[in-house]
Amino acid sequence: MKTSNNISFAWFITISMLCLLANSQLTTNFYSQSCPKLQSIVRRQVTMALKTEMRMAASLLRLHFHDCFVNGCDASILLDGADGEKFALPNNNSARGYEVVDAIKTAVESSCSGVVSCADILTIAARDSVVLSGGTGWPVLLGRRDGFVANQSGANSNLPAPFENIGNITLKFEAVGLNLTDVVSLSGAHTIGQASCATFGNRLFNFSGTNAPDSTLLDQNMLTGLQNLCPVNGDSSRTSPLDWNSTDLFDNHYFQNLVKGRGVLESDQILYSSDEALTTTRSLVELYSNDKDAFANDFKNSMIKMGNIQPLTGSAGEIRRNCRVVNS
Ligand code: HEM
Ligand SMILES: *[C@@H]1O[C@H](CO)[C@@H](O)[C@H](O)[C@H]1NC(C)=O
Ligand SMILES: *[C@@H]1O[C@H](CO)[C@@H](O)[C@H](O)[C@H]1NC(C)=O
Ligand SMILES: *[C@@H]1O[C@H](CO)[C@@H](O)[C@H](O)[C@H]1NC(C)=O
Ligand SMILES: *[C@@H]1O[C@H](CO)[C@@H](O)[C@H](O)[C@H]1NC(C)=O
Ligand SMILES: *[C@@H]1O[C@H](CO)[C@@H](O)[C@H](O)[C@H]1NC(C)=O
Ligand SMILES: *[C@@H]1O[C@H](CO)[C@@H](O)[C@H](O)[C@H]1NC(C)=O
Repeated sequence: MKTSNNISFAWFITISMLCLLANSQLTTNFYSQSCPKLQSIVRRQVTMALKTEMRMAASLLRLHFHDCFVNGCDASILLDGADGEKFALPNNNSARGYEVVDAIKTAVESSCSGVVSCADILTIAARDSVVLSGGTGWPVLLGRRDGFVANQSGANSNLPAPFENIGNITLKFEAVGLNLTDVVSLSGAHTIGQASCATFGNRLFNFSGTNAPDSTLLDQNMLTGLQNLCPVNGDSSRTSPLDWNSTDLFDNHYFQNLVKGRGVLESDQILYSSDEALTTTRSLVELYSNDKDAFANDFKNSMIKMGNIQPLTGSAGEIRRNCRVVNS
């Protein structure tokens, strides 16, 4: 009994120290000596990009998510090449913002050459995108390094699809150390940005062979609007805002929409309307729809958690000179 307690205690200490170590590798002041102006350089570039196109905030936020879920937050999504993550099903013709990341990287390099990773640039740009869209910010942990490989099959298997149920989506979050709270809070990112007909058109006319639209899409105005945008055999690349209430504003209207049956993606609406939701996500959707501060706080914590997925630190990986290619 005593020995087993001692062993448990030793394990507890070991694991606690490992956790401390893992956390202490990323720090908010990682570049304070080597690139003191980093934060303002990135903020300025993101601001400029949003002046050209407000949707870019959503695209940059999504790039960071799609980076972190595949081989960790290592900028693997930015690597060019036919076998890259860019061309995986969830990203092909959908993930965007690569040119903006290039512009940020160029601006950063001209001020402090060879020290800031593309993975950290993506993380800061995602936070800035939320803030410049009216959301609440957070201190970004830094010190990630860039990976050597893109993983197309990893992108296909790890990234959630809009046709999956809550159980399956949750499994994909749990596979990278996130939980059910993170599923709901991070889905709140769909308060900005656009989705193409390809990702929700199945809900509009003959949902699951019912010869009727998805009955959980309650707003008839919105249903008609989406049907006109995405007719059967129409152009599946046309896009709709994900939040019909305040498209470019980072607020909690996404959750208010779900309560009113105004979610665009099936994977959005099921968080409130499905049977599974009753025992999993519905109460959180209700909380966030009524309490914007609860959403802002949980979103912040979940984004920090997501940014901590398997970072390369120390001498692992490299600092890429060009975010699209590994250094030779
Ligand atoms: C919970 C599982 C999720 C699913 C199934 C999902 C699925 C999708 C789909 C299908 C689109 C539309 C893509 C297109 O048509 O081009 C989209 C867009 C978007 N997603 Fe998600 N997503 C999920 C979680 C997240 C998370 C965790 C974030 C970020 C924290 C996020 C941020 C975004 C943003 C900002 C957009 C709009 C992008 C733009 O306008 O360029 N999503 N998502
Ligand atoms: C990506 O999209 C392009 C253009 O639609 C298509 O030609 C190509 O086959 C797609 N790539 C993959 C790997 O599916
Ligand atoms: C690609 O991703 C899958 C799923 O996360 C992982 O099992 C595999 O080891 C990765 N491959 C490489 C080359 O990183
Ligand atoms: C959930 O995942 C299982 C196993 O991959 C798959 O067979 C099933 O079709 C998925 N269901 C949904 C609704 O995504
Ligand atoms: C998810 O993890 C956070 C800590 O990261 C915790 O506060 C929260 O209660 C967890 N949620 C669930 C449903 O386990
Ligand atoms: C609706 O889908 C079901 C199952 O895929 C199919 O059998 C039926 O013919 C479709 N109805 C119409 C009007 O296309
Ligand atoms: C958006 O939601 C807010 C809060 O519920 C409401 O006051 C406003 O009228 C809505 N706007 C639109 C365009 O639906």
